[in-house]
Amino acid sequence: MIRTWLAVATTTMPRQWIRTVPTTWAALPSLQRAPVLPTAQYKSSARPPTPAASAASRPHSTQPTSRSTMTVNDPAAFRVTQHAVPGAATDPATAAPLFHPFTIRGVEFPNRISVSPMCTYSAQNGIATDFHLVHMGQFALRGVGLSVMEAAAVVPEGRISPWDLGLWSDDHVAPLKRIADFFKVHNGPKLGIQLAHAGRKASTLAPWMVKRGEEYMAGPEVGGFVDQVVAPSPVAWSESMADPRELSVEEIQGLVQAFADAARRCDEAGLDVVEIHGAHGYLIHQFLSPVSNQRNDDYGGSLENRMRFLVEIVEAVRGVWPASKPLFLRLSCTDWVEDSTWDIAEVIEVVKRVAPLGVDVIDCSSGGNAKHQKISLAPLYQVPFADQIKQAVPDVHVVAVGLITTAEEANEVVGEGKADLVMMARPFLRDSWVQSTAHTLGTEIAYVAQYERGRL
Ligand SMILES: Cc1cc2nc3c(=O)[nH]c(=O)nc-3n(C[C@H](O)[C@H](O)[C@H](O)COP(=O)(O)O)c2cc1C
Repeated sequence: MIRTWLAVATTTMPRQWIRTVPTTWAALPSLQRAPVLPTAQYKSSARPPTPAASAASRPHSTQPTSRSTMTVNDPAAFRVTQHAVPGAATDPATAAPLFHPFTIRGVEFPNRISVSPMCTYSAQNGIATDFHLVHMGQFALRGVGLSVMEAAAVVPEGRISPWDLGLWSDDHVAPLKRIADFFKVHNGPKLGIQLAHAGRKASTLAPWMVKRGEEYMAGPEVGGFVDQVVAPSPVAWSESMADPRELSVEEIQGLVQAFADAARRCDEAGLDVVEIHGAHGYLIHQFLSPVSNQRNDDYGGSLENRMRFLVEIVEAVRGVWPASKPLFLRLSCTDWVEDSTWDIAEVIEVVKRVAPLGVDVIDCSSGGNAKHQKISLAPLYQVPFADQIKQAVPDVHVVAVGLITTAEEANEVVGEGKADLVMMARPFLRDSWVQSTAHTLGTEIAYVAQYERGRL
């Protein structure tokens, strides 16, 4: 039966492939070994190969090996040489702006499309699982220029839920490195992660666990830690969230160190980008906004004091994060409430302070810190924040995010110079976006070798 299947399969394959098809399953291991090329050899060109060059080297090394040397799950055990950077325009000179490459410090992004960080509630004790490899890996295969992994907590009680990613221990490094290695093997799409502390919004359930009208705090029965929730001030986000305890100055300084330790682990894992999460009502935003910060010490009151925690984190993270790698900062550019001074004017002051400390990119989001917020939701509604920051602080790069859904919208935001990169979250939960967007914009991009035949 196997032979019959192979006979049928080979009739549908290009002639040059037929000689590589095994006639018994015992032959399979020799197909699955390929030499591990140094990184430089993967990075030959941004252009897809000519058909002749491609056929000459396709698809794997047939270097002989024995069954006994085969290693399951060893990233080196199965590699296909990628001849181009997935997602890179074949001809950048004529490509739509969304597919222009972009370099920050020593990192080149093949296009301006990014996956926005998205909690997936799928980690175990903060450790990335196979879900994360497959989930993030799909973006490498699809040629997303930059994929930023979800909020990863710098301490266990900083998790939004008990199933968040974590970076508080060296045990977290190896599974993240496995994902980063997968991206590197695929030759160019970049991988980042968000460093976070949820503060008073910690210890909640995954969205699919919450029934309408019921509690969404995660109690100890599911690994929650409601009694360890901390914040700048003892002010709950709402009556259905934890009552936080006020952080001492000593604890604040411990958290600054925790952010730096987490960033060091990101470098050890081989990640390209770190994004500090200063938005959405999580701990850093809680310090920045007077809605949640009612301290009267060096960390509260004036804007200078409210931004102190963030400034110290940026300095500490930059101290360990390599100078060759970009540092992003996500900020909520307004609280969307009338009784808060935290708005674009204060945000611009903060950006002016942190950019010279080594923040390269401001990722411009909004809201999340006040239950009584009134958000004006509309397509591209946060783009003006990115545009305003870019105009006020020209040295900093900006990301636009939020209800950017179509190819034309994303291309226009970048083409008109309102943002350097666009990030999207929910569109990537619906479909893979990059190839169809390139098609819509009339730009030819490189595919991973294994997907080449998907071209129409
Ligand atoms: C499932 C899901 C999880 C999210 N998790 C995070 C997160 O971990 N960190 C973060 O900064 N934003 C998070 N967000 C917000 C997105 O990154 C993004 O800013 C927001 O969804 C708006 O973009 P969109 O309109 O393209 O979805 C999440 C959004 C979704 C839908």
